[in-house]
This record gives sequence, structure tokens and C-alpha cells, in this order.
Amino acid sequence: MQTQTVIGEAWQRVAALAARPGADAIRPLFAADPDRARRCTIVLDDLTLDFSKTSIDGEALVALLDLAHEAGVEGFRRRLFAGEAVNVTEGRAAMHMALRSRADAGMHAGSEDASAVAAAEREKMRAFVARIHDGTLRGATGERFDAVLNIGIGGSDLGPRMASEALTLAHGAKLRARFLSNVDGTDFAALTRELNPARTLVLVASKTFTTLETMTNARAVRAWVAGALGEAAVGAHFAALSTNLGAVAAFGITPDRVFGFRDWVGGRYSLWSSIGMSIALAAGWEAFQAMLDGGRAMDQHFRDTDFADNLPVLLALISLWHINVMGFNNHCMLAYDARLRRFPAYLQQLEMESNGKSVTLDGHAVGHATCPVLFGEPGTDAQHSFMQLVHQGTQVIPVDFLLAAVPDHDRPEAHLILAANAFAQAEALLRGKTEAEVRAEMAAAGAAQAAIDAVAPHRVFSGNRPSTTILFRRLDGFTLGRLIALYEHKVAVLGAIWGINSFDQWGVELGKVLAGGILPELQPGAAPGAHDGSTAALIARFKALRG
Ligand code: F6P
Repeated sequence: MQTQTVIGEAWQRVAALAARPGADAIRPLFAADPDRARRCTIVLDDLTLDFSKTSIDGEALVALLDLAHEAGVEGFRRRLFAGEAVNVTEGRAAMHMALRSRADAGMHAGSEDASAVAAAEREKMRAFVARIHDGTLRGATGERFDAVLNIGIGGSDLGPRMASEALTLAHGAKLRARFLSNVDGTDFAALTRELNPARTLVLVASKTFTTLETMTNARAVRAWVAGALGEAAVGAHFAALSTNLGAVAAFGITPDRVFGFRDWVGGRYSLWSSIGMSIALAAGWEAFQAMLDGGRAMDQHFRDTDFADNLPVLLALISLWHINVMGFNNHCMLAYDARLRRFPAYLQQLEMESNGKSVTLDGHAVGHATCPVLFGEPGTDAQHSFMQLVHQGTQVIPVDFLLAAVPDHDRPEAHLILAANAFAQAEALLRGKTEAEVRAEMAAAGAAQAAIDAVAPHRVFSGNRPSTTILFRRLDGFTLGRLIALYEHKVAVLGAIWGINSFDQWGVELGKVLAGGILPELQPGAAPGAHDGSTAALIARFKALRG
């Protein structure tokens, strides 16, 4: 395959700036410019993005902004919002923005009025949620629902799970939300032990309604409900969230309990659609609507703001600087907010399924790195697991810190400890500690010279390790929506600059097909298939161990 390296003039300028001696140093930038923190901070209402703790200086920023222009990000943004088929390999628009637009916004996906379609479905969904909450709709035995079980995987699980957890922890739960994604029977067993079928509303969430894990789990849960309450009870306990209305009907869910969306909504962008039903059921319609409003506010900001003040564009350029210019291949998400503990898992799909690509739109091999490996945990937990490596490991790993100024609990002193740690981690990454400082500190503490000589090198922090901080007033539905849309657009901008399709996911196909072939071979006595030596031996050993 031919390689296509993007080597526009601005790319070359960015690369040349990065080749300057000491281009990865951050501390000198603060020394050289006392106003750096202000210059490198963008504020959108209460949402604050500070990227001053990166090695991007004024010249590099200008070159990066030029690079975004040179790579055609404006044209991409226009085509995205115009509902053109930016998902070229599947011939589809990526019009998830319509899901959070007003009914009369007139956003189109191709020739369809996507805003109007989304609003009609949203209204149907709102009415259903209201009838569940007010008890008009009940289980087959007449009991009110106290739990919602969402069966889905990937985009039909990660977004709803993350958002319903974040919003119910902040504002209380109207229904308990539980999530069954993995086909591993362990989760099914645990959830069916915990839940009472008579009081459980089951959502089968699947864009395609063909996903093996989801359909296997849906059939198992259906049997669990039918076994406990009788076959006739199933209809009162199930609803479907899908684009595949034919398959939903074949599963036996009646049309009034089917909440659809269109194929211009990608799986990992679907939490704004009926796939977000569990969020609305758990956190309430107001919280869900606030999340949509936040997403819409970020859409407007992204669409209408110059690149120099545009949060998603800047976040993308910071990533690009780290990945393509500095060669940092990992990225760490540290939300200092336990409510966002599922945010890294959600982002892993958003970023890595979208941009984990190595082929350009026109079928050439990309000539540079694309998506970094993303991982994360909430702070302060992360400090006591992998932050050792981020501070002193051999690789430099840029970090995104997320922090709310105001908590939604009544332990203000705990929130200040949390915040102090967030600020301290970012400062420690930047500042580091020299050997001379370590030696002086140890000497002042009375350590013997031999101990100082032995230990000092181990206590050195290189510093100059980059981070970006996103600070906001509080984590409500509106802010969560802004954050999700911020990262969605960041990912799309990176994809546009790299010239890849951020909206398909062919890389998940091969494994699915092979699993389908291996499954029958695992039956006792089944003939082995044609595999590489390792896979064949492992399958044989697996069967032998099972007796
Ligand atoms: O993992 C591949 C994928 O297609 C994701 O993109 C999607 O979110 C997930 O599977 C679930 O698909 P569906 O909603 O169709 O069941």
C-alpha cells in the first residue's frame, strides 16, 4: 500500500519547531513569559481549558492553528454540520449533533430533516419516561418499576452507563440503572440475583439488533422474566432502542415500545438518542435534557468559533502536538471526580474506535501516528496505582485533568483535598525535582551522606511532563453534555487532520467473524477448523481441560 504523508507547509513548520533543542521543555516557557497561563487558557462560560503546562509556545500554537487550516478542518466542519456523508466508507452522515438540536434547527442528514426526526423520537421517549416515573406503566404484576436493566455493548452501553452513573451520583436516582454488556454469564448471574424481575424494566439497546453479545443476553433476560412472571408478562417489561425495526419486531417487542434512531448516528455517538433512555430513566428527563443542551452549546461553540478560541480544535491540536510531533503514544485521562469513573472507558471507545486507523480516506497508508493509547482512572485513586509511571517512567504520557470547583455532596473538606491533589499532580508533572533539590532536602532532614548518594537518583523527577486541565463549576447534566461533545469534536478534528475516517470501525469485524467460526468447534466432539498452530493448540487444550 502506498503511504501518504501529510507534508504541507504548516506541518513542516510544526515539525521544525519541534526539532529545536529543548522543544519539549515546559518550565522555561513560564520563565520566559509571566503571562503564559493567561495566554494559554480558553474560557467558555465557566468551562476553562488550561494548556499552559504543555511545550506549545506562541510560535508552535500559530503553526498548529495554520496546520488545522491547511488540513481543511474548516471544510470538514462545514460538511459535518451540513450532514454530508463524512463517513465515506459507509456512505453516511455523522449527524449526532441533530439529536441535541432544537426541533426547528433544520439540521439535515442528506435530504432528511434530522432535527425534526430526532425531536419526534425524543418526544416519544420523554412520554415513555414520564409514564414509567409516574407509575402509569408498570410491570406485569402491577408493581412499579424500581430498576432499569440496559442490555447493550460498546456505544450502546459505555455512554449510557457513564452518563447515568455521573448524573445519578450527582443528583440522585429515580430508578436504579444496571447494565449488562459482557456475554460472560457472570454478569447475568450477578444482575439477576440482585434484581427483582417484577420490578425491572429491560431495555435492549442495539443499533443493529444483531450484536451477538447483546442478543444472547437479551434472550437470557427474556427467559428470566418469562420464567419468573410467565410468557405473557414479557411485553410489559421490555423496550427496544434500535435502528433495526424489523429485527426488533422479530424479537417480539411491540412497536409502541420501540424507540428508534437513524443510521446517521454512529454507535459511539448514540447516547444522545433513544440509546440514552437509561440515562433519562435513572437521572430524570430534566438531567437528560440538560445534557442535550450542554452538547448543543458545545456544538455551537465548535461550529461558530475561530480556531484560536475553539476548545475542541485546541484540544485536538494539543493531542496532535503530543502524538505526531513529540512522539508520545499514550494519553491519560484523570478526572478528579468519582462520578466520572466510567469516563475513561467511554473515551476509550470514542477515541480509539474512531481514530485507531492507519488508512487515509483515499485508501493510502497514513504516514504518521494516529490515535494514542488512552487509559485513565479517577483521581486520587490513580495516584496510588499508575501515576508512579507517569511521573518517573521512561515514557512521557500527557494527562488531561478534569475537576469541578463545586461538589454535590456535603463534605466540602474532602473536595478541597481532592482538588489540592489534582492541582498538585499537574504541578509535580511540570515542576519535577532535581537531584540537587533531593540532596539538599535529604541533608536537611539529617540523612547520612551514604544514604543520600544511594537514594537521591531514585527521588529525582524530570518534570516538564505535559498536562491539560479542564475546570468547570459543577458536574451537572449541562456540563457533562459539554464535556462529551467537546471530546467528540476533538476526535473528529484529529481525524480530519489525519485524513482518516473517524466514523467507521471495520477493525472490529474480523474478530467477530472468526469467533462465529470457532464457536461450533468448541462443542464436544466437533472437528477442529483450520487455524494457525497456536490457536489450534489452545482450542484443543481448552476442550481437554473441559473434559
Ligand atoms: O464494537 C463494534 C460496535 O459496532 C460499536 O461500534 C458499537 O457501539 C457496538 O458494536 C454495539 O453495536 P450495536 O449497538 O449495533 O449492538
